[in-house]
Amino acid sequence: MSLVIGCPAETAERETRVALTPDAVVRLRRIGLDVIVEAGAGRAAWFPDEAYVAAGARVASKEDVYAQADVMTVLHAPQPSNRTLLRPGQVLIGLLQPVLAVDLVVELAAAKVTALSLDRLPRTLSRAQSMDVLTSQANVAGYKAAVLAADTFDGFFPMLMTAAGTVRPAKVLVLGGGVAGLQAIGTARRLGALVTGYDVREAARADIVSTGASVLDLGGVSASGEGGYARVLTAEEQADQQSAMIAAIGGFDVVIATAQVPGHRPPELVPSAALAAMAPGSVVVDLAAGPLGGNVAGSTPGGRTVTENGVTVLGAGNLPAQVPRAASTAWARNIAALLDHLINDGSVVLDPADEITAGLLICQDGEVVHPKETLS
Ligand code: NAI
Repeated sequence: MSLVIGCPAETAERETRVALTPDAVVRLRRIGLDVIVEAGAGRAAWFPDEAYVAAGARVASKEDVYAQADVMTVLHAPQPSNRTLLRPGQVLIGLLQPVLAVDLVVELAAAKVTALSLDRLPRTLSRAQSMDVLTSQANVAGYKAAVLAADTFDGFFPMLMTAAGTVRPAKVLVLGGGVAGLQAIGTARRLGALVTGYDVREAARADIVSTGASVLDLGGVSASGEGGYARVLTAEEQADQQSAMIAAIGGFDVVIATAQVPGHRPPELVPSAALAAMAPGSVVVDLAAGPLGGNVAGSTPGGRTVTENGVTVLGAGNLPAQVPRAASTAWARNIAALLDHLINDGSVVLDPADEITAGLLICQDGEVVHPKETLS
């Protein structure tokens, strides 16, 4: 009997992506795996059931997917009513965010589910890069943020020379030069805007320069942390950064904010006074907007507000779900690469000496592996 990989439909609100695509099914079938997909799972990402069947998957009810799969691949943790369908020994792979969902990890451990959380992939390990959903989805989000900003901005991104005169290009500022920020910079540049990037990490500033964009100098805060990420700024550093931002931001038509510090609330880089310093008609897209706040004062996920001085602020929310076909294709490639890595001779091999496995594993054999503090 072949190992069975299951893919249920995602149930989170406004989620349109799917964890496996027909292309990924072909790849998994090639390495001897069986695939079972919930009917309609790919519909919102433009992958009809027939495409899965043509790729060699079985399409079945949700109950059959949960009952027959040895490995369940999901984007987000299944909702509570579906979690009761998980079986002891079943492997669950998804973006489970154990640090934010400690109770979920305890529940999965109690159900004797083996769970691997994709946000815990050791990202700087070169052989893990093809499995990195944070990177693949941040690329989609950065691209979409730039397109959304261009669409919302009531002007042109490129310089236009017409018989009626010359139109200057839009000035775009991208805050945060990580994966999403660099993609937003590249996309805005391809649309013809004059782009400036800003980051507190020296390495990110060098990455911004390598795209051809300029770097905004806000006076010296340098804040590289662990694992290629930024550290949280001190209150004093943040206050200095905000006042420098208030002085600089008025020169830009569009701001795309992508700054994050993993495990912490996003830094507020654009306070209300900075929004007040922008010209009417300016646009700010806050990709960092989430339940804990964002980079921009007052932005909420999915929210759209116009300030008194006429600045449109878009809280971006889940942007990859607005590009579901491309985002799912990238995600499914990541998952196929991970399964290829974890499965040997038709069985899932969870070798604790393997850095990728050790990073991803959050519970196994009824025990919480991460976060460890929940054991006490
Ligand atoms: P992220 O989404 O956590 O943060 C985005 C950016 O915001 C980062 O560049 C960070 O320095 C910046 N930031 C944080 N606080 C800030 C502040 N107060 N002001 C200005 N900027 C601020 O990061 P992401 O994009 O997930 O990854 C960041 C880095 O991780 C990458 O640039 C890279 O160095 C490393 N990485 C390496 C990979 C690899 O080697 N394969 C893969 C993915 C990431």
